[in-house]
Parts: sequence; structure tokens; C-alpha cells
Amino acid sequence: MEFKEKVVIVTGAARGIGATTAWAFAKRGATSIIVDINGEGAEKIAANIRAEELNAIAFTVDVSKKLQVDVMVEEVFNKFGRIDVLVNNAYVSGGYTIVTETSQETWDKVIAVNLTGAFNFAQAVAKKMIPQKSGKIINISSGAGINGSLSSGVQYPASKAGMIGLTKGLAGDLAPFGINVNCITPGLIRTWEPEEMAEQATGWTLEKVERYIEVEVPLKRVGEPEDIAETIVFLASDAASYIVGEVINVDGGGMLDSVAKRESLLGF
Ligand SMILES: NC(=O)c1ccc[n+]([C@@H]2O[C@H](COP(=O)([O-])OP(=O)(O)OC[C@H]3O[C@@H](n4cnc5c(N)ncnc54)[C@H](O)[C@@H]3O)[C@@H](O)[C@H]2O)c1
Repeated sequence: MEFKEKVVIVTGAARGIGATTAWAFAKRGATSIIVDINGEGAEKIAANIRAEELNAIAFTVDVSKKLQVDVMVEEVFNKFGRIDVLVNNAYVSGGYTIVTETSQETWDKVIAVNLTGAFNFAQAVAKKMIPQKSGKIINISSGAGINGSLSSGVQYPASKAGMIGLTKGLAGDLAPFGINVNCITPGLIRTWEPEEMAEQATGWTLEKVERYIEVEVPLKRVGEPEDIAETIVFLASDAASYIVGEVINVDGGGMLDSVAKRESLLGF
């Protein structure tokens, strides 16, 4: 899949799935616009991509700040004269607390970054894509937006369920202009080392993380950032031109019933 001359904005691209996605597009000839609140991290990824004689530019933007988003999108459009793909990927989790302990500040911050941030970018970019009569928007939700999550409180699943609703609303609005909007719900993806994952993502031990993967994921492996990046590239490609408003699980079968789950729960 070729993306020569295409301009692709990826938010939250200073690390993890976002950085891998920016690389995946750049390797296929696109200019990757790397957006992150962590400006230093974003600059580093862009510099590494350019060191391979590929195209990337970094922008320091807080996605929850509408003015910053509008100014950035305007600058990109003025420079390249087009915006072909937007990947809404930036997020914060807010950590786990039982709902009675969840602060207003945590709730507001997670909704502002994960959901309002995606709206801010979609709105600014749609204004450029509509006159172009083409474009692809891919929103990164989470399995937590469908099933909830025992490891990240109520704010994170709420924001990610919102991302699915945002996708449906945008998809219907923008399809008549030749713009495809779709959504991906990743399962557990290795954006940390397993030890870090045990400590930061779930508060579990490494053994529990390994056992969780064994029982919960029929493919019996954690997902890699490339698993998500390649699905994003597919949805942004011409091969996916008739797919609109879909939510695609990329989770190794994590939402399926499985023998391992039954054995673990019921002993058969
Ligand atoms: N890793 C997983 O297991 C997993 C599972 C399900 C869904 N997801 C989703 O995939 C996406 C990427 O996850 P990841 O694990 O790669 O994340 P990550 O923590 O590695 O990266 C997130 C990036 O977002 C940036 N960011 C945070 N707040 C921002 C803001 N206000 N403005 C701009 N940038 C901001 C961070 O600086 C960071 O670079 C997220 O939307 C997440 O919900 C991840």
C-alpha cells in the first residue's frame, strides 16, 4: 500500500502505537505529522524517521486545547495543501481508582484528552477534507470501551466508548464527502516492557500478566504496536474505501469465548 505524497497526522505519536504508526506511513512514502504533548519525544521520532531519508515533522500540541489544534492543522494545510489521513490516538488513562474515589480532575482530564481531543482534531481536519472530497479518519478506542476495564477505572472506558460514538457520528456526517471514518479497538498491546506493564498498566505481578494473556487471549500472545499500525494503514488505504463507521477489534481474539477461559473459570 503506497502513500506517496500523502499527508498523515498521527496524534500521541511520540511513543507506542502512535510512533509505530508514524513510521509505518513514512516507510510507505507519506509525510508523517507527529503530534504529541511531549515535544521532545515527538522531535526525536521525527528526526529518526528523517535520518532514514523519509518524511516527518513534529508538532508540540495538547490535543485537548482547541486553539493549539486549529493553529497546527492550519499550518500543516498551508505547507502541504492537503491532509489525507488523521489518526486520533493520543490518550491518558487516569489510573485505577474505584468510582467513589475518582476525582473530578481525573474524569475531566481523561475525557478532555481522549474524547474532546479527538473531536478537536476531527473537526479541524474535516474542514480541510470536505473541500478535498477525500480523507480517512481512524479513531483508536479500546476493548475497554466495549467491555469496561478492571484496571483503569470508569473514566477510561467511558472515554473509549465515547470514541466509538464519535466514530459513528463522524462517519455518517462525512461519508457523503468521500471521507471514511472508522475505529479500532485494540486489546492488550506491548507498548511497555512486560515488567513495566505489570507495574503500570494493571498493578499486577508479571506472573499475573503472563497468566492473563494465556487465559484471555486465544492467540496466546500480547499484541505488538505493529498489529495496530498495520490495521490503521489498511483502513487508510484504497483497499478499505468501502468501509465506513466500523469498529474493528484487533485483540488476538480477546473478546471470544475460549477453552482457556472455560478451563480457568469452570475447570473444563
Ligand atoms: N497499549 C495498549 O495495551 C492499548 C490497549 C487498548 C487501547 N489502546 C489505545 O491505543 C492508543 C495508544 O496507546 P499506547 O499504549 O501506544 O499509548 P502511549 O502511552 O505509549 O502513548 C500515548 C501518547 O499520547 C501522548 N499524549 C498524552 N496526552 C496528550 C495530549 N494532551 N496531547 C497530545 N498528546 C498526548 C503521550 O505523550 C504519549 O506519547 C491509545 O488511544 C490507547 O487508549 C492501547
